[in-house]
Amino acid sequence: MRVLVTGGAGFIGSHLVERLLGEGHAVRVLDDFSTGRRENLASAKPGAALEVVTGDIRDARAVASAVAGVEAIFHEAALVSVPRSVESPEISCDINAHGTARVFDAARRAGIRRLVFASSAAVYGETARGPVSEREPVRPLSPYGVDKLYTEHLAALYHALYGVETVPLRYFNVFGPRQDPSSAYSGVISIFVSRLLAGDPITIHGDGKQTRDFVYVADVVEANMRAMFSPYPGPSPLNVARGDHTTLNALATMLGEILGVTPQIIGGPARAGDIRHSVADITAIRSALGYEPKWTVASGLKALVTSLRPV
Ligand code: NAD
Ligand code: UD1
Repeated sequence: MRVLVTGGAGFIGSHLVERLLGEGHAVRVLDDFSTGRRENLASAKPGAALEVVTGDIRDARAVASAVAGVEAIFHEAALVSVPRSVESPEISCDINAHGTARVFDAARRAGIRRLVFASSAAVYGETARGPVSEREPVRPLSPYGVDKLYTEHLAALYHALYGVETVPLRYFNVFGPRQDPSSAYSGVISIFVSRLLAGDPITIHGDGKQTRDFVYVADVVEANMRAMFSPYPGPSPLNVARGDHTTLNALATMLGEILGVTPQIIGGPARAGDIRHSVADITAIRSALGYEPKWTVASGLKALVTSLRPV
């Protein structure tokens, strides 16, 4: 199949590209390299069916030409930081809502069969402590969450009005190799691992009792492949997670054990827009796609550490 991966030079996108190429698909990447990096695609062998186009999903012309000739789309491009969206809601809206609308419309015009895209657990907002299913009410706490929710509604509309199959995947907290640790907006595991490896202290925002459902990137790639190649046409969203929770304090302890260090922890203020508890019910994706997470948090952390510090 010929597929487009927006955000394909980013963390999750590049793992998806690698898997698609490995299974013999022809892949075009559209990325503006705002956080993505060419090195993330370096494992593509010379002569691999990979084409990389530099462009912005907010640019309708760039999107239309990236969509030309492909049969299906994985849409990963976004401004991914929740706190960054709180600081700059207009930029989040521009990229995450309007940019995604451009991608959907290009898909409609080009007669794309199926579009699988990255939504987020951020759509739920504050939930009770237990696992959250897709039927739970959605009350996002951040501009990022609102923008992702908008894209889910738009996807349902494109499905109903124009017959584009749209599958929203609500990723929980994804981690693994190539997640960029370099900014204060980066994912917590990438920050913690890089700081601990450098012998630096880590900051825990709030009391550290907040929970996240950390899922290893290979499981997220598997969910995407199933979402694209199974009969499930959407548009109901599906949680992508492990289905169990880890507190930030427990994460710091686990990483200390894996790295053989005692983490020095600095207490920081709780972040605005931060969700307290986040854990998924994954019954729906199990039954729709036969998805089963293969990686535990510990095995994923060990693989991540090995990739950064080969033994
Ligand atoms: P990432 O920042 O590594 O990847 C995003 C990619 O999109 C980058 O390559 C970036 O250069 C590109 N991009 C950003 N704005 C763009 C634009 N305007 N035009 C073209 N390309 C653009 O982040 P990631 O963690 O790989 O996230 C991938 C997707 O998964 C995003 O949609 C994100 O919202 C979603 N998501 C991620 C997580 C997580 O825990 N990492 C959880 C839930 C949802
Ligand atoms: C993450 C994703 C977001 C996704 C959401 C889904 C990133 C950057 N963000 O948001 O795209 O939609 O999951 O659930 O990938 N923290 C610290 N110290 C730090 C950094 C973070 O204590 O140095 C805390 C935060 O306050 C938060 C938790 O760790 O409570 C997770 O933060 P973060 O990794 O930024 O992810 P989310 O905000 O959950």
